[in-house]
Amino acid sequence: MKIGILTGGGDCPGLNAVIRAVVRKAASYGYETTGIRDGWRGMLDSHVQRLDISSVSGILHRGGTILGTSRTNPYKEPNGEQRIIENMKSLGIDALITVGGEDTLGVASKLYKVGVKVVGVPKTIDNDISGTDFTFGFDTAVNIATEAIDRIHTTAESHNRVMVVEVMGRHTGWIALYSGLAGGADVILIPERPFDLDNVAEVIRKRHDRGKNFSIVVVSEGAKFIPGSEKNKDGELIVQDVKLDAFGHVRLGGIGTLIAEGIEKRTGFETRATTLGHIQRGGSPTAGDRVLGTRYGVYAVDMVRDGKFGRMAALQGNSIKDVDLAEAIGRLKTVDLELFRVAEVFFG
Ligand code: F6P
Repeated sequence: MKIGILTGGGDCPGLNAVIRAVVRKAASYGYETTGIRDGWRGMLDSHVQRLDISSVSGILHRGGTILGTSRTNPYKEPNGEQRIIENMKSLGIDALITVGGEDTLGVASKLYKVGVKVVGVPKTIDNDISGTDFTFGFDTAVNIATEAIDRIHTTAESHNRVMVVEVMGRHTGWIALYSGLAGGADVILIPERPFDLDNVAEVIRKRHDRGKNFSIVVVSEGAKFIPGSEKNKDGELIVQDVKLDAFGHVRLGGIGTLIAEGIEKRTGFETRATTLGHIQRGGSPTAGDRVLGTRYGVYAVDMVRDGKFGRMAALQGNSIKDVDLAEAIGRLKTVDLELFRVAEVFFG
């Protein structure tokens, strides 16, 4: 048995833990592992590298992915699907472990429908994949964002300022909600709850009326204004670049600055915005992500052994299970609003 493994989409901490676990577990069954370079790009171009126990030694704690990644969409490339099927055959790859988010796993799901033997592993700092309680990478991003909020706290306090912290998360507010809760944010803005800046300003004003001289607002990059609540911002996403990538995504970002300007204008309090950006995705994974990535990798090899193709490894409670891949990527996992109501207790 020869297993191919690829990592696609935005990188995230814990990818190397999955790769290491796949190679080690596969070796324990006497299977060979081939690493595919740069996500689906490597599968289209037959760009691969042999992986053995020594090539995955010392990578558990390292961020990024030793295989490289890309946002290549084979369905946007000439004969993409056919090239992948032929390349798998000529490379002697029997089954593919695809480690990615909705885009990478979406391609895997389409390939499964035409007979390719694929299993999925859910990866993304955004934690927006259904069927699993958590994706690996999320815990690290939350910890980095929380540390940043802690640091911003002290400078906010010293300068009597309102500080707006923009975090990633695309169309869901998981990172904002968890880091905002952990960092003691005074307001958290998420895509699942479009907001009115007048209300945000009111919450901050009241907080300052009761003697506080600083405030922290955590906003998810995909948060939206309530239609009509802000001039020219009729519920649209705020984007850095309207150009779409190969999977049809715009580049989000910039809402933090708009909010900071709006708050300062309404309250008169000096306000600054900080965008955490790719810092949330870089560097060493937390212990939690190393363990979760390792568990996913080991389980994925067992899925291959047991012929559980077209399925995705998933964390449910404290167990790793497998779920239907097409269903998992069929809808975004949005924020648990019950948890948001917990966070709201601490607003203002
Ligand atoms: O999906 C992960 C993610 O980091 C999102 O939170 C963010 O919107 C996007 O990727 C950024 O992508 P890129 O690195 O291509 O700019």
